[in-house]
Amino acid sequence: MFSTPFVLSFALLLSLPLLFLLAPRILPPRPLPISLPDELDDLSLFHKATISSLPSKSSTSSISHLGKTNPSPKIAFLFLTNSDLVFLPLWEKFFTGHENNHNLYNIYIHADPSVKMIKPQSGVFKDRFITAKKTRRASPTLISAARRLLATALLDDPQNSFFALVSQHCIPLHSFHYVYTSLFSTKPIKTESTSLFSFNSVKKLPSFIEILAEEPNLHDRYTARGEAVMLPEVTFDQFRVGSQFFVLTRRHALLVIKDRKLWRKFRLPCINTESCYPEEHYFPTLLSMEDPKGCTKFTLTRVNWTDSVDGHPHTYKPFEVSAELIYRLRESNSTYSYLFARKFSPDCLDPLMDISDSVILRD
Ligand SMILES: *[C@@H]1O[C@H](CO)[C@@H](O)[C@H](O)[C@H]1NC(C)=O
Ligand SMILES: *[C@@H]1O[C@H](CO)[C@@H](O)[C@H](O)[C@H]1NC(C)=O
Repeated sequence: MFSTPFVLSFALLLSLPLLFLLAPRILPPRPLPISLPDELDDLSLFHKATISSLPSKSSTSSISHLGKTNPSPKIAFLFLTNSDLVFLPLWEKFFTGHENNHNLYNIYIHADPSVKMIKPQSGVFKDRFITAKKTRRASPTLISAARRLLATALLDDPQNSFFALVSQHCIPLHSFHYVYTSLFSTKPIKTESTSLFSFNSVKKLPSFIEILAEEPNLHDRYTARGEAVMLPEVTFDQFRVGSQFFVLTRRHALLVIKDRKLWRKFRLPCINTESCYPEEHYFPTLLSMEDPKGCTKFTLTRVNWTDSVDGHPHTYKPFEVSAELIYRLRESNSTYSYLFARKFSPDCLDPLMDISDSVILRD
């Protein structure tokens, strides 16, 4: 005869898989990584930005512009950071190198408020900090921060036409003039106009965002929030991966802040935290579902994944910084040269400044 303790432990063992199956139904839902008040703040900002970008119905605005020359389109530089902007002197030089750069860009900074940082008291970065919330790795807070930057820039200046997301570890690989000219002289792509009265095919500038359908761990990343959680909104076939650093056009920036459907899924907490990189999936998946032809499918930010550790790419050290490195980082397999690169350790600032005039910012 079996002893009672044995039967008991056997029964317990048997019920374990059952528990796993039923747990999601029995247990209360896990708290969302973004609190309700934060979510509501964001929604109200996104709503305001969407409304402000609607084409104005009255003709008064066009009349008031009569006689004035059309202002030039601008690039909005969106800095996403959770530490000091160590390469600020290099970026400062990038923006102010030429007086003609003036009025061709805007800067917006989302700095994690829980991190103490030195805010610039002068120069082009002064007072460019937007209302920010805490960000954490392996959580949708990085998506929210990027969307907050996009919405603030959309709302702030109707001339913002490209939106370039960079981090504190990014550096420019070319002068501002070079970046501006190559973005705005990109070959426009044909897209279908969805206007109420016409079905013209119109030519528009593309967004530069990496969109990949294949990655060794893609399935683990797809199921990181639970086996079938992404369904029906996103099937595995629709799930994409790409660099979190992108350059989006204004229409795609709007598309991203208007999205509610995919966000409802991507904001859910990961169960498998090893495969949790929401910000590397949300933007490529959304744009690949909504306007695949409107994107180049590659990023303009060079990153070196050789010997990556714990999801971090190779971080360049001062001894590696040279003119040759900059030339090598610019080279790409596409028709476009890389415009930005990451990651560099903070102590690379001096060697980078040494070659800023002679190499980095020289056309
Ligand atoms: C990428 O990083 C590896 C070391 O991890 C280095 O050997 C290689 O030279 C780097 N490639 C470029 C283009 O810098
Ligand atoms: C270009 O493509 C080759 C061959 O696929 C690859 O080895 C190389 O790393 C690529 N270079 C860049 C800059 O992506």
